[in-house]
Amino acid sequence: MKKTSPVSRSGRFSSGPGGDAAKFTESISFDRRLWRHDLMGSIAHATMLGGIGVLTKAEAKRIVRALEAIGDDIEAGRFDWDESLEDVHMNLEAELTRREPAGAKLHTGRSRNDQVALDTRMWLRDEIVDLEEELRSLQQALVALAQANNDVIIPGYTHLQRAQPVYFAHHLLAYVEMVERDRERLLDAFSRVNVCPLGSGALAGSTLPLDRKQVAVILGFEDRQGRPVVSQNSMDAVSDRDFAVEFCFVASLLGVHLSRLAEDVILWSSSEFDFIRIADAYTTGSSLMPQKKNPDIAELARGKSARLVGNLVSLLTLLKGLPMTYNRDLQEDKEPLFGSADTIRAIVRLTDAMLRHTSVNAAACTAAAADSALLATDLADYLVGRKVPFREAHHLVGEVVALAEKMTKPLDQLTLKELQGVSRKFRADALEVFNLKQALAKRTAIGSPGTKEVKKQLRRWAKRLD
Ligand code: ARG
Repeated sequence: MKKTSPVSRSGRFSSGPGGDAAKFTESISFDRRLWRHDLMGSIAHATMLGGIGVLTKAEAKRIVRALEAIGDDIEAGRFDWDESLEDVHMNLEAELTRREPAGAKLHTGRSRNDQVALDTRMWLRDEIVDLEEELRSLQQALVALAQANNDVIIPGYTHLQRAQPVYFAHHLLAYVEMVERDRERLLDAFSRVNVCPLGSGALAGSTLPLDRKQVAVILGFEDRQGRPVVSQNSMDAVSDRDFAVEFCFVASLLGVHLSRLAEDVILWSSSEFDFIRIADAYTTGSSLMPQKKNPDIAELARGKSARLVGNLVSLLTLLKGLPMTYNRDLQEDKEPLFGSADTIRAIVRLTDAMLRHTSVNAAACTAAAADSALLATDLADYLVGRKVPFREAHHLVGEVVALAEKMTKPLDQLTLKELQGVSRKFRADALEVFNLKQALAKRTAIGSPGTKEVKKQLRRWAKRLD
């Protein structure tokens, strides 16, 4: 059935945009996903209008009932979205008015400018709540993998060159820390998303005595103390998209972190490293090479994170030249915002699932960690214990490394005599440095990959995420 647009009844225009212009201006193809929040906002607004006498109680009740019925129909897939009605707000208002003549009074004291800001904020609140939960689950997956392999040691890398030994768990907990910062940023951003703009009108509020706080309370815009939070400047309220930018930034940085994790997973699953095995369900084969098992989930987590950065830059660029207040350009905020929310949530969920289906090849890790060069720094520390200044100790051990290389044998296979050929400071106990277990037990400082410290951190995270 053809609906009448609330706008087509506008006295100012002989016709609305048609053809290409309508296609160019419509947003219903993507903003319809705000329908639930648009209805909730309208219900709150109608209730408030009933309270201040703009609507009779009976009208307010009928409007609320009609809006709820529309919601049921949309939910059940019985709703035809009409592109000629431009956006989600006009589609829903037109349908309301068709069902309930008093619906024509709903838009009193309201503009699509404050309405869309409201809907977007409400939608984003829900996304943040869900994402936060998914982040916790991801952290739990990392901790679970770390706990299941808590005595596995691997080389730690700088410049992608073997550097010093670390527990595999320590490496994974580094990502738990990163994700924790992302969670904090997300929750911090939430407090700025959770501000009610309704009542700001097109840009300059309304002559009617709107009860903005009542609307805020109905819609859950409250601070920790349960006090309503409403925007304090009508012009800012309709043109502000900081909350969207902030979310896109948080998603970008989180995406960058998970892209780095993906890169580690990709490296570790290669034959060269062979530290981990990803379950078949999270890999794919090659259409040509029968032996291939590719880490596509990790690669796409890495690849898709590019969109997050792109969306952030799109939003910032969208905003930078806008005069106050609302400009239609702002309609372009939705696709990047929706895209970032969808993309980051998919990355988080799939990374979580992949990690829960990944096992560790302890033998390969142990073999790599047995490289005694990883303990060259410990040998320098040994000399420090013998009162050699570190700079000198570093130089002497450099000579020892060069000697071992020349003799084509591992560092720990040098004899005491050969060590003493470099420095008389080396004693018989120097070679004890190469006991890997002891080397890790010696690292006791907070945040180090020491045996006790890593266990302590694992317990801390397990308890915190419980
Ligand atoms: N679809 C519009 C948007 O997303 C709604 C607000 C339109 N306001 C207006 N004055 N044309 O921004």
